[in-house]
Amino acid sequence: MAFRNLLTADAGTVRTITVNRPDKLNALNRETLSELKVAFGAARDDDGVRVVVLTGAGPKAFVAGADITEFAQASPADALAFSRHGQELMSAIERLGKPSIARINGFALGGGLELALACSLRIAADTAKLGLPEINLGILPGFGGTQRTLRLAGRAATLELALTGATITASRALELRLVNRVVPVDQLDAEVGALAAQFAASAPHALRAILDAVLIGGECGLDAGLEFESRAFAVCASTEDMREGTRAFMEKRKPQFAGR
Ligand code: COA
Repeated sequence: MAFRNLLTADAGTVRTITVNRPDKLNALNRETLSELKVAFGAARDDDGVRVVVLTGAGPKAFVAGADITEFAQASPADALAFSRHGQELMSAIERLGKPSIARINGFALGGGLELALACSLRIAADTAKLGLPEINLGILPGFGGTQRTLRLAGRAATLELALTGATITASRALELRLVNRVVPVDQLDAEVGALAAQFAASAPHALRAILDAVLIGGECGLDAGLEFESRAFAVCASTEDMREGTRAFMEKRKPQFAGR
């Protein structure tokens, strides 16, 4: 699949999607948002893809936000459509049904941080810089940033980031629980690669059950969430992978999950 603003590459069952506008620090213009929607839709529908890594081209940026030049003159109606366009993408990434890893190699600001927050996990280089600087433009995060930061990092951190617009270091982002791991920049690929390989070898239906239980069940009350978990557990019991996983344990060998 050819894109104007993205690169995609497969290594086994790991698909890497790279936002490729390095001269604009990979800022998300409308076309890039649309291409990301197509790329993630294709990854979702392809059983040969078990994990997606999302990153930015060049040494400087993961994604430095929504493309400011595209919404500078927006009317309220344009802004509503732009926000919904971005939010739909983020929700599609979050509900991919397979693990996604944000490989944060540099600036992850505004829409870039929102993109990373929609992924299942975030691995940041120690050189990365993160933030929600929209307040400096007279706006607020509009691609889910107020809601996903709140859910991941809590109200205090969300208000601090969004109200001040401050750019923070990767280690501060780790303290705030915005990222899962921070590694020296020269170890970023090894860390992301090892995690992706682990997911690629895992049972895909069980991975999906975990994602659904946490992301969908977690938005309900506790009783409904527990019911969701029990039903997802029952679905896992219908898979060959569950038989393989339990049999491999008893036979003291590594399981080979076929994804059935
Ligand atoms: N939208 C559009 N263009 C952007 C952009 C964005 N969000 N972020 C960076 N760019 C462009 C710059 O305009 C510049 O383009 P030019 O060379 O045609 O002038 C190019 O990317 C390089 O950025 P530059 O600002 O020169 O790099 P820098 O190292 O001096 O600063 C940042 C890096 C990230 C601090 C700075 O680019 C910035 O503040 N970007 C905007 C971040 C933001 O507010 N994001 C939220 C948007 S909702």
